[in-house]
Amino acid sequence: MPRADATEQSTTAAEFVVVANRLPVDLERAPDGTQRWTQSPGGLVSALEPFLRSRKGAWVGWPGVPDVEVDAFTDDGLILHPVTLSSAEVRDYYEGFSNATLWPLYHDVVERPVFDRSWWESYVRVNRRFAEASAAVAGNGATVWVQDYQLQLVPSMLRELRPDLRIGFFLHIPFPPVELFMQLPWRAEIVRGLIGADLVGFHRPGGAQNFLWLARQLIGLEPSRGAVGVRSRPGMVQVGGRTVRVGAFPISIDAAGFDSIARSRPVIERAKQIRGELGNPQTVLLGVDRLDYTKGIDLRLQALHELLQEGRVKPEDVTFVQLATPSRERVEHYQRMRSEIEQMVGRINGEFARVGHPVVHYLHQSVNRTELAAFYSAADVMVVTPLRDGMNLVCKEYVACRHDLGGALVLSEFAGAAAELSSAFLVNPHDLDGVKNALEAAITLDPAEGRRRMRALRRQVLTHDVDRWARSFLEALGAEPSA
Ligand code: ADP
Ligand code: F6P
Repeated sequence: MPRADATEQSTTAAEFVVVANRLPVDLERAPDGTQRWTQSPGGLVSALEPFLRSRKGAWVGWPGVPDVEVDAFTDDGLILHPVTLSSAEVRDYYEGFSNATLWPLYHDVVERPVFDRSWWESYVRVNRRFAEASAAVAGNGATVWVQDYQLQLVPSMLRELRPDLRIGFFLHIPFPPVELFMQLPWRAEIVRGLIGADLVGFHRPGGAQNFLWLARQLIGLEPSRGAVGVRSRPGMVQVGGRTVRVGAFPISIDAAGFDSIARSRPVIERAKQIRGELGNPQTVLLGVDRLDYTKGIDLRLQALHELLQEGRVKPEDVTFVQLATPSRERVEHYQRMRSEIEQMVGRINGEFARVGHPVVHYLHQSVNRTELAAFYSAADVMVVTPLRDGMNLVCKEYVACRHDLGGALVLSEFAGAAAELSSAFLVNPHDLDGVKNALEAAITLDPAEGRRRMRALRRQVLTHDVDRWARSFLEALGAEPSA
C-alpha cells in the first residue's frame, strides 16, 4: 500500500473510471503533522482494488480527511483523483445523510434513520461534485462505474454532463424492502438518480425487483424482462429512448489471492504463533468486522456469555477473538454501540477470565492482509452474525484461507453471502438460542463433517471470485466482450 510521496499530476483522459465515496487509500495525519496513505476500510475497496489495479483505470474518490486538496496522482498504475470534502460536508453528506439516513434505512432500520433536509442538500451538492470530477476525468465514450449508496445521484448528473459515457452503478449494501424505502422523503429523486445509469446492479435479485417496482410506482417506468447478458432474471426499463438494465451481481473476493497467502510459510507460522499466544485453547472463535451496529457483534458476545453461564462451553477451552476496525466514530449510533460492546467484553472477562487468560480478546484495530489471513487460519470457528449485510466478504475470505479444510463457519441468514454459502451453520441472528446452538454445534463439529462442509464452501468461493463478478457486471454493461 501507498506511498505519501506518490504525487504526480495526471491529465490523461481515462477509458475506465471507478467513482466511489472513498479512494482505495486514506490519508492519515499523525498528531506530529506527518501524513501517510493507508488502505481504506470496508468491503468495497477490498473487492474492487485488486481488480482495478490489474486494469490500470482511474479512481475518483474522497481521500478520507476533510478540507484537504490533493492533486491527482498515480499509484501502482492506478490514477487516483481526489475529491475534496469540507468538514461541514463530511458531517452532513457523509456522517449525516449517507450514514445516519441511508445506512440504517437500507439495513432494515436496525437503528432509526434520521431525515434532515440540510443533510439532503449536502448530499445533492457533493454528488454533483463527484459527477463533475468524473466528467472531467473520463475520456470520450469511456466507461464509468459508480459505486454505492453515497453516490446514488451521480449516474443521472453525470449523464446530463456527458451523454457519451457508458455508466454503470453498483450498490454494495442491501437495497431495502419497498415499505422502508418509501419512508425516504427524497425517494423519487434517488430512483431518478440511479436510472441515469445504463446498468443498475444489486447483490441480490430481491434488491433488483424492489428497485424495478419503485421505478414504476415513483416515476412511472414500466419494467420488462429478459435483458441480454444480465444474470438472475433481471429486468429493464425504457427511459426516453434509452434502455436501463437492472440485475443481481453477488460480489466476491480475490479468492486465489487469499488462498495463496494462507498457504505461505509466514502465514502458517504466524497462525501457529497466534494460537500459542492465545494459550493454545481447544477452540479459537473469531469475529472480524468494521465496528458497525449492523454486524451483530453484540449478539455473538451475548450468545457466548450465555453458553459460558450455562456451562455448555468451558472458559478454559475457548477463546474468542474479535477484530473490529474503527468505523464512523463520530456518528452517535456507532459511539453507543462501541461502548455497549466494550462493556460486554469487560463483563464476560470479569466473570470468566483467569489471570493471563481472557476469554475474549477484543482489538479495536485494523490488521494487514497477512495478519488477517493468519487469524483466519488460526480460527476453528468463524462467527459472522450481521442483522443485515449486503454481502459480507469476511466469510468468503475465511473460506478462501481454509485450504486445510479445517474450521467452521457460523453465518447469518441475513448476509447476502448466505445464499451462496449454504454449507455454513446458518443462523437467524434474532434467535439467540439458535445462535447458541449453532456455536455449540460448530465448536463440537466432527472433523469429517467439517471437511465436507468446508469443501463445499470452497468450491463456491474459489469459482466465484471478484474477477468473475466484475466481468459479469461489465459484460452486462456492454463494456467488456462476453466470455
Ligand atoms: P463492510 O463492507 O460492511 O465493511 P465486508 O465484510 O463486506 O463488510 O468487508 C469488510 C472488509 O474489511 C473485508 O475485506 C475484511 O477483511 C476487512 N476488515 C474488517 N475488519 C478488519 C480488521 N479488523 N482488520 C483488517 N481488515 C478488516
Ligand atoms: O459497502 C460498505 C461500505 O459502506 C463502503 O461503501 C464503504 O467504503 C465501506 O463500507 C467503509 O465505510 P466508510 O467508507 O464509511 O468507512
